[in-house]
Amino acid sequence: WAEGDPLITEIQDWNRYLGDGVDAAPYGMPSAFEADVIRRDVPWLTADPVSSVNFTPLHALDGIITPNGLCFERHHAGTALIDPADYRLMINGLVDTPLVFTMSDLKRFPRENRVYFLECAANSGMEWRGSQLNGCQFTHGMVHCVMYTGVPLRTLLQEAGVRTSGKWLLAEGADASAMTRSIPLEKALDDCLVAFAMNGEALRPEQGYPVRLCVPGWEGNMWVKWLRRLEVGDKPWAQREETSKYTDLLENGIARRHTFLMDVKSVITSPSPQAPVTHGKGPLVITGLAWSGSGTISRVDVSIDGGRNWKTARLDGPSLPKALHRFYLDIEWDGSELLLQSRAMDEKGYIQPTKDELRAARGVNSIYHNNSIQTWQVRQDGEVENVEVS
Ligand code: MTE
Ligand code: CO
Repeated sequence: WAEGDPLITEIQDWNRYLGDGVDAAPYGMPSAFEADVIRRDVPWLTADPVSSVNFTPLHALDGIITPNGLCFERHHAGTALIDPADYRLMINGLVDTPLVFTMSDLKRFPRENRVYFLECAANSGMEWRGSQLNGCQFTHGMVHCVMYTGVPLRTLLQEAGVRTSGKWLLAEGADASAMTRSIPLEKALDDCLVAFAMNGEALRPEQGYPVRLCVPGWEGNMWVKWLRRLEVGDKPWAQREETSKYTDLLENGIARRHTFLMDVKSVITSPSPQAPVTHGKGPLVITGLAWSGSGTISRVDVSIDGGRNWKTARLDGPSLPKALHRFYLDIEWDGSELLLQSRAMDEKGYIQPTKDELRAARGVNSIYHNNSIQTWQVRQDGEVENVEVS
């Protein structure tokens, strides 16, 4: 601190005058000084904003919960606006009794609260062939993590009575894209939720208000928003989103399909290109996020020299299956250049691959399921850049 700092010695306006009263913002907003913490899109990525994506500002967040207004949005036909009074959910197909639920019907079933990450299968997709986007918001921001409140999908399926021939479930959205995905019945009866709240309040319109499907640990595309119909069938449907999209073309010309699981992944959120080091050498908090569709994260290692040496990071905050985990490595920075990497391991022992390892296994034709290790170069002036090491 500096001798005679007016911020210490002088009375400031916020100290001198009364502030706004309690009703100034009936629905509270973040401080005006946080105006930079917003979702952002990459305009050249898609032809128009209606079938597009914007990204969670991971570089500016902490903990494991994403604030509702900052959850990335991915729409194929814009946000559907549905009055809950007009909401209907149909269950049909191989069931004993086809059913239609209203909003108030859904709210009479026993509910559960669960914290889950949702990651788009295309997250980090632009980085398959080389480092491209300068910021973890853009390279990794197609993920969010909130607490959902909803009715287990199992409960609703049991209400309709699934026939023994039922093996798959088709989930259909009510938006203009009529998003449709096939889900194995085993998963539907396991941990899927028909959710109507996130972080304690109603879903946001962008996230599927009034009702969305949660398919924990599996690719975001299956988490159908504005859910309107569930059809039980005996085989998968081969919809557009599971044939021409959300399949992974390998080097040998064969495409992997039904790649539902989101494998173990992590990224350092700060320092990162949008969160440079502004304080010079000395104590430096390195922090990031790790997650796995297979369960909890058991360990995260951090390297400051491009993967030559590793230190085990400190996991802090709740460790919940199929949720984001927060890690920290607190170091003394000597002011020299750093090549920051994080490498996560999940409870099944699966270890996040390097970019070279992933490319050797999958080639570079796919845009989906890139869970490889990210490198940030921290320069001596504290600026940070997206780079690759091999
Ligand atoms: N559901 C409907 N009905 N329409 C959509 O366009 N997009 C899917 C999925 N569910 C989509 C949808 C994709 S690709 C993803 S990654 C997630 O929703 C994104 O969820 P979010 O917008 O809440 O982040
Ligand atoms: Co997606």
